Amino acid sequence: MITSKELREKWIKFYEERGHVNIGAVSLIGDGTTGVMFNVAGMQPLMPYLLGKKHPAGTRLCNVQGCVRTVDIDSVGDATHFTFFEMMGNWSLGDYFKKEKTKWSFDLLTQVFGFDKDKICSTVFEGNDSVPRDDETAEYLKELGIKPENIFYLDKSNNWWELEGTVGTPCGPDNEWFYPRHDNPCCDKCDVNCDCGRYVEIGNDVYMQYKKLEGGKYTELENKNVDTGFGLDRLLLFLNGLDDGYKTDLFAGAISHIESVSGKEYGANELDTKAMRIIADHTRTAVMLIGDRNGITPSNTGAGYILRRLLRRAIRYCKNLGVDATVMCGVAKIFIEKIYDEAYPLLVEKEDYILEEITKEIKKFEAALASGMKEFDKCVTGMERKNAFMGAKDPAYVPETEITGKQAFRLYDTFGFPLELTVELAAERGLTVDENGFNEAAKAHQELSKAQAQAAKGGLTEQTETTTKYHTATHIMLAGLRKMFGTQTEQKGSNITEERLRFDFNCDHKMTAEELKELENFVNEVIAKKIDVVRTEEKYCDAVKAGAYGVFNAESEDQIVSIYTIDGVDKQICGGPHVKNTGDLGQFVIKKEESSSSGVRRIKAILK
Ligand code: ALA
Repeated sequence: MITSKELREKWIKFYEERGHVNIGAVSLIGDGTTGVMFNVAGMQPLMPYLLGKKHPAGTRLCNVQGCVRTVDIDSVGDATHFTFFEMMGNWSLGDYFKKEKTKWSFDLLTQVFGFDKDKICSTVFEGNDSVPRDDETAEYLKELGIKPENIFYLDKSNNWWELEGTVGTPCGPDNEWFYPRHDNPCCDKCDVNCDCGRYVEIGNDVYMQYKKLEGGKYTELENKNVDTGFGLDRLLLFLNGLDDGYKTDLFAGAISHIESVSGKEYGANELDTKAMRIIADHTRTAVMLIGDRNGITPSNTGAGYILRRLLRRAIRYCKNLGVDATVMCGVAKIFIEKIYDEAYPLLVEKEDYILEEITKEIKKFEAALASGMKEFDKCVTGMERKNAFMGAKDPAYVPETEITGKQAFRLYDTFGFPLELTVELAAERGLTVDENGFNEAAKAHQELSKAQAQAAKGGLTEQTETTTKYHTATHIMLAGLRKMFGTQTEQKGSNITEERLRFDFNCDHKMTAEELKELENFVNEVIAKKIDVVRTEEKYCDAVKAGAYGVFNAESEDQIVSIYTIDGVDKQICGGPHVKNTGDLGQFVIKKEESSSSGVRRIKAILK
């Protein structure tokens, strides 16, 4: 049995012995620069360095980095999905490359973890129009003693690593390591491509030498980097010969605590096992998010809302399991004191606070449940009355048995009732829920909030002649910032009053006096050129093709959007309004540049 603590140590020691500096983990909460809410990959904090910036700790780095991914939240409850996991990583920033990396991964697997080299399988990139086949890596693998028949060339969908949905980020072909769980192939063709589950991906080495551009294009980076990631949770499972992630030491304590409080046995039946896993997984992630150095608390927006959903889902499963939700505090204590105390000492420091926040959310949800139950009863009583009344009048009347989508949505939106809860309660009374109607109501609500959010993001609460001018000025200013710092620069917030504009954007440094002057001049030159500001309407996809950008989430590719173009300067998807001509603006003066939040700068400026 190898424990999670031993595994972390072994990883770091192995790479430290090879000249790497342990840079430790960064916060789990996204800093607003990449547009993702949480840290989702070990390489995420290192992006600027993979793109060429000098790292203060040198060119060989390693760490164990926590990551939060909630896209698969509905899969949590099986044996292998988690919303929090740790990535063991190491990096070469333009230092060593394929020869050293293949050897070190090989040595780690064979010498530290005792893998049999004859069973190790490795996959490399088969190449495409823009990037050649990775024969170099395959050659090194063979030299190390990996059997040629255990080396597979696979396409981009398998052997290419990039952060989905991003542009301007580093990426490249990768070399993945596989190992069989057992020696009983399911058929003659049972290899790494077989989906019988015999082969497990142990980790991967990404050769990050490309940068992803708009439109699915790539450009070569100056540095040839290595980005390695081995998932700790998965490797731990594998090294211990287990097939259930909740049986490793990471979860064993939490599960046995839930067992003893509930008096039920893990694994005895599917429903209870699923509930125990959800309680354990979600509580762990909540502990990590609340106890983070940039810790968050449950709320109704952004990352806080994700945290709230995690906690409320766990609370619900406590109810399903028949335990008081305070069991989550016991589970949290085990994670804090026994499992993550060494790797995340801050959790220990913040223990009381974390437990308090969890307890508060349990109380809030329970109160919401109580008032929601009253509302639910009202819906049912109303329906019963109507049925009785109509039935008395008309013997052919068919009684209603369905909670409407609108009612279910109100229970969700106002009382925090997840749809599944309403469905369950309805079933207890022999009723159904119009789930399609619920989805429609949710969509209508979402559209409304989006429209409101767009208006708020546009920063215009009241549209006067002056605020309209400031709005146009923000467009020109953002165009200037993108010209100076690159097109990854985006609006992160805007607030306009009669007196000034205030504009937030992502930027990795405090702007210098020269940069501010350059920006000011840029805006004033555009004003001096007296360029028309032209509004057009186009399909969203066509607008994007034509180079338009903006803080806008289209419902569909075909949605018609409004675009404001300042010829040769800027093209933004925007609801407006704007001035007719840049010459209408007067003189642009920057008053202040300051930090807004991590990685986000704020400019205040006026028009004279
Ligand atoms: N960035 C690579 C991964 O997350 C190593 O798998």
